[in-house]
Amino acid sequence: MTVSLEERIRQIEDHYQRLLPYPALTVGEAKTQAGRAGDSEFTYGETPPASLMEMLRAAGLSADDVFYDLGCGLAQTVLVASLVCKQAHGIEYLEPLARIAGEAARALGIDNVRIHNTDYRDADLRDGTLFYCYATCTTEPTRALICARLLATAPGTRIVTVTHPLDHPEIERREPVELWWGGGRHNVYLHVRR
Ligand SMILES: C[S@@+](CC[C@H](N)C(=O)[O-])C[C@H]1O[C@@H](n2cnc3c(N)ncnc32)[C@H](O)[C@@H]1O
Repeated sequence: MTVSLEERIRQIEDHYQRLLPYPALTVGEAKTQAGRAGDSEFTYGETPPASLMEMLRAAGLSADDVFYDLGCGLAQTVLVASLVCKQAHGIEYLEPLARIAGEAARALGIDNVRIHNTDYRDADLRDGTLFYCYATCTTEPTRALICARLLATAPGTRIVTVTHPLDHPEIERREPVELWWGGGRHNVYLHVRR
């Protein structure tokens, strides 16, 4: 029996719901443990799968894409993207979140996901062709470091950010669109590596 994309996304959502009915508690503990409780760059928020899919489709998502979520948290985004991309990577600094994310992929039998427990400002992003960053709480210096890493990617690479655009002469920025989720309005920016 063929399982539809919608059904597979629902399975991922159900898995997370059962595993972590209160994700904020898990994230709060992880931040405290890492000494980041007061660091606004580690403010947590999740992108609903439907909104992620809308953004990725607008970015010209293809089955050949290598997807990265910069700051993937519990990585529901990464698992969802893995259903429609060749390979999906999540980069997350907080170890407990990265561990849970990897376990979720294994439990769901998803084998084209890799979770990297590291700082995305130092990560090797060369093979990525489609990037997502829920950048609402990033600072300008952090976004500059993200741009520097993205310069190693191939021309035509697409980068989607939320709230803040990237600002670099080698990265073309398209007009933002507005999306609603979690009771709020979000500006979404599509960029293309020149
Ligand atoms: C707003 S949450 C987004 C979670 C997920 N991307 C989503 O959209 O559902 C941002 C995540 O980025 C992580 N983060 C913040 N700075 C980071 C850094 N420099 N390197 C890796 N992860 C980072 C935080 O710990 C948090 O889990």
